[in-house]
Amino acid sequence: MNVAIDGPAGAGKSTIAKLCAKKMNLIYVDTGAMYRAVALYLLESGVNVENSQIVAEKCKGAMVDIRYVDGVQNVFLGDENVTGRLREEAVGNAASVTSSVPDVRAHLFSLQRGLAERGGIIMDGRDIGTVVMPDADVKIFLTASSEVRARRRVKELEEKGEHPDFDTVKKEIEERDHRDMTREISPLKQAEDAILVDTSDMTIDQVVDKICSICGEK
Ligand code: DC
Repeated sequence: MNVAIDGPAGAGKSTIAKLCAKKMNLIYVDTGAMYRAVALYLLESGVNVENSQIVAEKCKGAMVDIRYVDGVQNVFLGDENVTGRLREEAVGNAASVTSSVPDVRAHLFSLQRGLAERGGIIMDGRDIGTVVMPDADVKIFLTASSEVRARRRVKELEEKGEHPDFDTVKKEIEERDHRDMTREISPLKQAEDAILVDTSDMTIDQVVDKICSICGEK
């Protein structure tokens, strides 16, 4: 079985997909991490990420690879394991900008398709049900209000010892939603055959149970 999970930033996709993978014995593939790895490569190469022409040229140098260490996805740039450096805000915001460049998407598509073809995958991102795995057995569109997503993100940052401003975090989330949903290529949107799950008033366990029961009905 292949399961596609799409949705906006902060909807809980990776947390939920990881737990569902464990419960259903599937391999979790985080495509956002691949876009983040390309963005990290471009930032470190000194590329102005707003310049789509240079991004298109330079992205091909990003040798992104996925390896599983104790069942957990690790992302490599060449031989370097960059997994621990991908979650920074600057990298996420740059990924949101560079992922709208068609060459960046084409660069990662074959890696994603290759993983999908192995089967037994739960993959999350923005265009999984619409573009990468249009043939997925189950498609979930996971969302939550921007207010709730910002609250979750603030809590996550506070747990790391940071002191984020709620309004700034919420504004960044809404800006990222806008960019991801309005870009020309592979915009974030609910696939026609995807099931909408709004997690605003649900616990993590409730969401996992719901998705596993949807998969169980297949
Ligand atoms: O899910 P995430 O926050 O790690 O993703 C980072 C950025 O990558 C996100 O703003 C949009 C982009 N992305 C994408 O365009 N397509 C995907 N399948 C996954 C992520």
